[in-house]
Parts: sequence; structure tokens; C-alpha cells
Amino acid sequence: MAHLKLGVLVSGRGSNLQALIAACADTFYPAEIVLVVANKPDAKGLDRARKAGIVTAVVEHGDFPDRETFDKAVDAHLRDAGVEWVCLAGFMRLLSSWFVETWYDRIINIHPSLLPAFKGIDAHAQAIAAGVKLSGCSVHIVRTEIDAGPILVQAAVPLLPDDTEDSLAERILTVEHQCYPLAVRLIAEGRVRIDGDTAIVAMPPDIGDQIISPLKS
Ligand code: GRF
Repeated sequence: MAHLKLGVLVSGRGSNLQALIAACADTFYPAEIVLVVANKPDAKGLDRARKAGIVTAVVEHGDFPDRETFDKAVDAHLRDAGVEWVCLAGFMRLLSSWFVETWYDRIINIHPSLLPAFKGIDAHAQAIAAGVKLSGCSVHIVRTEIDAGPILVQAAVPLLPDDTEDSLAERILTVEHQCYPLAVRLIAEGRVRIDGDTAIVAMPPDIGDQIISPLKS
């Protein structure tokens, strides 16, 4: 089976990008990263991509008059590289509806909460303030509304009584790094069917059926 060609969009640290790079290093993994795009020249994710020998592009949002013109420049890079699916990995820009429509059902994002709870940039703080006892991460198909769209994979972690935003973020990040490569695998293996606002996922047998879906932490 041909490898699914991914374009990964980053703004910063790029630890989820690193998890995808690590997954793609396995020849049996059904996807490859053909391009990493950053909207900031100092995004650490760019160094990670370069180290892995992946083509990179910097598209600085400040160079463009509006969101859609910026998105069209990103889109041109993705097309040139032959990208089939777009992975947002800590990409801190809202995408225009033009971009979301153009790549409809071919963009995924990872968010550090159990969606639809705690959308937005301060998901960890929201979870702590709400006093929930479990939080986690979600990988979902992107729609124009922020942090919304069919959910592909989620994993839960406990909130501990003395958690800070940082300690919770760190615990969630460990499951993010498992869930993002799994979600890409599910797509690449044709195990996802999107039906309106939901995704029907045929989980492969090697993942098991843990109560805390889908992986042991
Ligand atoms: C992650 O927590 C992700 O869920 C959120 O932004 C953060 C990105 O981290 N969307 P990294 O750049 O992948 O390390």
C-alpha cells in the first residue's frame, strides 16, 4: 500500500511532530511526512523536521494582508509537495473557511482535552478550574469552528489533586504522542468513515479495547 503523504503545520515546540516522525521511521507505518510548514521561522519543530531530512517551508503570517492570503500560500506549498492530508500539530493560527473547505475531511488536529469539553487555548486551566477527575486528548477532523469536528481518537488521563497546568499538560502530552500516530494510521489504513459530525472508526485488533480509550498510558 502506498504511504499516505502528510503535511504537518507547526508553530512551536513540535513534540507531536516528533511523535509522527518517529512513527514514520518504521517502514511498516502507512504514512510519510513530505512537508513541514511553520508560520514562525524560529519554531523548534522546523529543527526537528530538518534533522529528520524532511522538506520545510516557513510562511510568516505577518507577511500577508489577511488570513485567506496566508492560507493560500500554505496551500500552494502543500500542493507542490503532493500532500494528501494536513496534520495540525500545535499550529497556533485559525484557518480560514476557504482552507477548511479546500481540504475538507483531509485536515486533522490534536487538542489537549476530551472534546467537546474545554475548547480553546487554555484547555488545561479550564479542566483544573472545572474540577474534572479525568482529562486527556482528542484527535479530530477539522471544521471551521475551533476544536470541533468528527473525533477519531481520544485518550484519558487522571487529574491529580495537586496538578498544575504544567503537570497536567505533561501527563496529557504522553498520550498525545500515542494518539496522533494512531489517528494517522487509522486514516491511512482506510479505517475511518466520516458521517457528518461523527467518525466511525474500525479499530485494528492490536489496539485492544481498553476502557480508557484507546491506549494504556
Ligand atoms: C499540544 O498540547 C497540542 O495538543 C496542542 O498544542 C500543543 C502542541 O505541542 N494543540 P507540540 O508543539 O506538539 O509539542
